[in-house]
Amino acid sequence: MAARIPLIAGNWKMYKTNPEAVESAGRLVELVADTDGVEIMIAPVFTALEPVSKVVQQSRVELGAQNLYWEKEGAYTGEISADMLVSAGCRYVIIGHSERRQYFGETDETVNRKISAALAADLIPVFCVGETESERDSGKTFSVLDKQVKDGLKSRVVDELGTLVIAYEPVWAIGTGKTATSEQAQEAHQYIRSLINDKFSAALAESVRILYGGSVKPANVTELMAMPDIDGALVGGASLDPESFSQIVKF
Ligand code: PGA
Repeated sequence: MAARIPLIAGNWKMYKTNPEAVESAGRLVELVADTDGVEIMIAPVFTALEPVSKVVQQSRVELGAQNLYWEKEGAYTGEISADMLVSAGCRYVIIGHSERRQYFGETDETVNRKISAALAADLIPVFCVGETESERDSGKTFSVLDKQVKDGLKSRVVDELGTLVIAYEPVWAIGTGKTATSEQAQEAHQYIRSLINDKFSAALAESVRILYGGSVKPANVTELMAMPDIDGALVGGASLDPESFSQIVKF
């Protein structure tokens, strides 16, 4: 069976103006030019997608967006469709990030519609799941992941999901400096893989890439990536600096 190719993804969140984004992307392209055996993605803000797409063209770096809306077009002020992201040069889209769930009312149902729209446009969804601190403390981690995975992928069929990427991001580890231990992350990743096995197929469970996210840094990435079910990282803070992100890419 083909090994899963690691994916290191940078979520730039609401940081960097266009000139800053172009500069960071250009530096990153240089820093990772000699890497192989790893896929690299950055997700700048919507307005920077097009200029950054020109910088990363023909490079090791691919482009992702941080969100989309599921309708193709229409009177939806402020929203952006999957086809629009493709036309701006995107190959990936992050869906259901905990900040979107927490601050912008995203639910498992909206996440489900967004994943469907992304797949229909041939965008690779990076589908985020993860428990809060209180859910972990009350022993609900697995039941939360179970619901998020099942409802987020509801009505999808195995044949559609060949490109799917899942990101396990414990909410308590995002931007807090508190990383899950590699054992905690491995346990959750293994559980998510078992859910994909049970709901879809053994082949999809074997091939689906599951990224870890939450305070990933050059100093902890090696240990995380050594875990059998961790196939990459979704990096926030440490992705903003091309030097530190390139060190993560070279885990
Ligand atoms: P962090 O963010 O690396 O800053 O913790 C991760 C994320 O939100 O994807």
